[in-house]
Amino acid sequence: MIRTKILGLGSYVPDRIVTNDELTYLDNKHVRQETVQTETNDAWIQQRTGIAERRYVPNDGNTATSDLALQAATKAIADAGLQPGDIDCIILGTLSPDFHFPGTAVILQKKLGIADKNCACFDIRQQCSAFVYGMQMADAFIRTGMYKRILLVGAELHSHSLDFSTRGRDVMVLFGDGAGAMVLGPSETEDAKSGIIYTSAHADGSGAMDLYLKIFEIKKLPYVDYDANDREQNQTMYPHMDGKRVFLNAVRGMVMSTQAALAKTGLTWDDIQWFVPHQANLRINEKVVEVAKIPPAKVLNTIQFYGNTTAATVPLTIDHWRQQGKVKKGDRILSSVFGSGFTWGAAIFTI
Ligand code: UT7
Repeated sequence: MIRTKILGLGSYVPDRIVTNDELTYLDNKHVRQETVQTETNDAWIQQRTGIAERRYVPNDGNTATSDLALQAATKAIADAGLQPGDIDCIILGTLSPDFHFPGTAVILQKKLGIADKNCACFDIRQQCSAFVYGMQMADAFIRTGMYKRILLVGAELHSHSLDFSTRGRDVMVLFGDGAGAMVLGPSETEDAKSGIIYTSAHADGSGAMDLYLKIFEIKKLPYVDYDANDREQNQTMYPHMDGKRVFLNAVRGMVMSTQAALAKTGLTWDDIQWFVPHQANLRINEKVVEVAKIPPAKVLNTIQFYGNTTAATVPLTIDHWRQQGKVKKGDRILSSVFGSGFTWGAAIFTI
């Protein structure tokens, strides 16, 4: 039986570091002003979320989500010892695509220089859960022999679609820009305790309006309701969130999917080196660790310095700690995620 192996890993964050203090003074063009633009502060953000800083792309009109994806993908392909032309399928998770259509995966394909190659391109829209959803898709494709070298990417450019005013502060402080990628392929071993061992993906659409960004509503004419001279009216252009409902459902979904992953595989924390939760809020992750009785020394977080990069958090966190020498080749990881939709899931895999 064909099994799936992770062949390579890579990540990318832009150079610009935006601290909580600087965030307070940024206008909607990300330019630091003399006076406070958003009534928030470092103490509130750190206490409620654990976030100290995040990364933003330069606001020069030259960087898109596909460019962040390209950086991470190029590193993952090199890490796998492959060339872009070896990739026969791209699965790209993002909630901040370059355009409404076409999908960002085809733009990445062109930027990788493989537009003329026979390569299937999928965009998936499961927000913070996209990477685990994508792992499940990639695993199924490889097990059936459909594709042999799948590039799975999570990439987000959040900083251009946040509300830089006090009205939007609950959401705006959480998010950062970044990307992570993996290359997956068939394994030469049939060892059921290596490669992708387990994936689960769940959804509950009754939470759809608890965390959303409309931008347009196709049932309306005109379908975009935007007045550049009246920012107060432009609610549809910014994300909206019922933070408390998201928080509670995130803890529940991540605890349940973590416990199910262990129960269904028969693995225990003795068999697993690292727990890599989605990075939405450090307080969510602390609660998940407490309730699911996860050994705290096995937990990897990066939200303190990258914020929430949505589809990118899982590969970005693994790659960050690999670069720091913590995560090593062959380590077994349990990852659980939760996001808008609501969607959630878990995966166990060796890196
Ligand atoms: O991947 C999923 C992504 N999203 C999440 O995971 C978010 C989950 N939810 C959360 O992380 C939390 O709900 C937040 C961190 C977003 C908010 O924390 P909270 O404890 O639920 O705060 P709250 O919304 O109940 O607001 C408490 C107070 C309010 O002021 P008043 O009415 O008590 O005077 C807010 O206006 O805090 C105020 N507030 C802020 N103050 C300073 C809300 N946002 C901010 C802010 N800075 N950024």
